[in-house]
Amino acid sequence: MNHGSWIYDNGEVIPWEHAAVHPSAHALHYGSSVFEGIRAYERSEGAAIFRLEDHLRRLHDSARLMHMDLSEYPADRLHAACCELVRRNEHGSCYLRPIAFRDGGSLGVDGRRNPVRIIVLGLAWGSYLGDGALERGIDARVSSWRRFPSATMAPMAKIGGQYVNNQLAVAEVHDDGFDEAILLDPWGRLSEGSGENLFLVRDGVLWTPTAASSILAGITRDSVIRIARDLDLEVREADLVRDHLYVADEIFLTGTAAEITPVRSVDRHPVGDGARGPITARLQEEFFRLVRGETADRYGWLTPTAPSATSPSVRRDDSSPEPTSRETVRSLAGAA
Ligand SMILES: Cc1ncc(COP(=O)(O)O)c(C=O)c1O
Repeated sequence: MNHGSWIYDNGEVIPWEHAAVHPSAHALHYGSSVFEGIRAYERSEGAAIFRLEDHLRRLHDSARLMHMDLSEYPADRLHAACCELVRRNEHGSCYLRPIAFRDGGSLGVDGRRNPVRIIVLGLAWGSYLGDGALERGIDARVSSWRRFPSATMAPMAKIGGQYVNNQLAVAEVHDDGFDEAILLDPWGRLSEGSGENLFLVRDGVLWTPTAASSILAGITRDSVIRIARDLDLEVREADLVRDHLYVADEIFLTGTAAEITPVRSVDRHPVGDGARGPITARLQEEFFRLVRGETADRYGWLTPTAPSATSPSVRRDDSSPEPTSRETVRSLAGAA
């Protein structure tokens, strides 16, 4: 793991190797954690975090679904923590992983009285689905594991324990030599990838499963829908079935980690002519130019990480010496 030197741990920024979790942590036993995956992109004027407010909102929504109290960590505090971490780690493009989890206390299944701890990790993470995947495309397979419906869990939330479903699906298809799994919902409708949302293109129209098909309402999915509509492309959210995969002209997956990754085959059926399609390429181009600051941030999606004159984070005394590796550093981002 290509991680930064610093980690945000319950209001403090500490050296990566000092962070530790006790084996009695409730989340370790029952998956009682909520998390986000967020990317920052390097730009000529400094790194900027993509759709930070939307990710933090989803983190709070996930926590509400889990009856997890994050009132000590409102969005502005986590916003400052994420920016501070990118700066401290001297990361340009990177992946941020905020996670809130139930720590040690009771080992009863209802862990609501256990303390909640919140960590943010910063990693340098390249192409999620492998080198060249963004250009070449990946080989996907429909998993025999179905995505869980909201009658059993909360697909709209990023809850740690729920990712057992995704792990089963992706392990199955990796063992069969495929790059990524596509999951159906319990009724056979197309749902999503193990860590991405799904789009199909047919006759120039984009199709994507609705929220009712047990998807995580992805922030990249929403970004692509908005960019596509601004390019005068028609986008339809609909109930889709497996057959649609095999007759699509183009398929791509969207996610913070996977960005916009073309799918070149599904279940060994070539998609279109088996290479990245023109609409996928066009959307990638718009998306990457925007996140890298090569076009105007017309949607207001980028949060610069450099301290601004009005940001509370600039009060840090930059003349203070760098901490030794044994020293714990109280971060301004952690100051409530
Ligand atoms: C299961 C699942 N679906 C979809 C997505 C895509 O969501 P986003 O674009 O917000 O990263 C992710 C990644 O977070 C995911 O884990």
